[in-house]
Amino acid sequence: MTPDPKRHAGKSILVTGSASGIGLGIVDRFLAEGARVAGFDLNPTPRDGVLSITGNAAHEPDMDQAVAETVARHGGLDVMVCNAGVIAVTPVTEMSFAEWKRVMDINIDSVFLGSRAAARAMIAQGRGGVIVNAASGAGRRGVPNLAHYCASKAAIINFTQTLAIELAPHGIRANTYVPGHIETPFWGGIADGFAKRWGKEPEEVIAAFRASVPWGRFGTPDDVAATVSWLATDDAEYMSGQALAMNGAEFPY
Ligand SMILES: NC(=O)c1ccc[n+]([C@@H]2O[C@H](COP(=O)([O-])OP(=O)(O)OC[C@H]3O[C@@H](n4cnc5c(N)ncnc54)[C@H](O)[C@@H]3O)[C@@H](O)[C@H]2O)c1
Repeated sequence: MTPDPKRHAGKSILVTGSASGIGLGIVDRFLAEGARVAGFDLNPTPRDGVLSITGNAAHEPDMDQAVAETVARHGGLDVMVCNAGVIAVTPVTEMSFAEWKRVMDINIDSVFLGSRAAARAMIAQGRGGVIVNAASGAGRRGVPNLAHYCASKAAIINFTQTLAIELAPHGIRANTYVPGHIETPFWGGIADGFAKRWGKEPEEVIAAFRASVPWGRFGTPDDVAATVSWLATDDAEYMSGQALAMNGAEFPY
């Protein structure tokens, strides 16, 4: 669908993990729909017209500062998207504690810190708000070689359910999006990791994952961004605590 340039006119949105892939797709969609967009990432967000903030979303002072800067520069915060995340491909018996901690800490801590900072700002401004957190189909089932990633994404779904209940009296909604396979730079590392495990080429790994999608293709960042945008409208006013999948019919939940 062609973005409506007035859909989010005047709203302030902050996206973490905004320099690449799905996060950048969300930035593009909200820019096209008239929002004031701030992006927070380890790397600068490569778009004109975005308030680009660099730092670590899993580091408390950085995350608090990113929300404070967005509120100060854009006159508040209406939509928070905690999208930053990392993955690694290793079976449990070979996984170091350091790798386990890295994936769990970045994925869960960034969502907790981003949601908390956003909720505090939204409660203080008293005009409600929308929080959307990145989960994954891997958060709804076990996937060999991805135990830490799966566990972190399951935690994000559950955390967001609690958040939705606690924030309802403030008119703040909280949901997760649950992508299947979305074509982004994320897949470079995944394909290399599985290629090593399976004794195949990365291209063969990508082809195998593509073949597992009934819709016949990987999703695009905009396939995710379109749902995030809708969640941020009043049409989704009665939707909170939900986990919404976009996956080409792959995970039948
Ligand atoms: N691509 C997929 O198929 C897929 C499927 C399900 C879920 N997801 C989830 O969607 C989100 C985005 O994935 P993507 O495919 O766009 O990945 P990506 O690797 O293309 O982009 C991730 C971005 O997050 C940033 N980032 C990582 N750690 C950070 C940190 N600590 N602080 C700030 N920024 C940080 C990176 O610099 C990068 O710009 C992730 O949470 C991922 O788990 C992706």
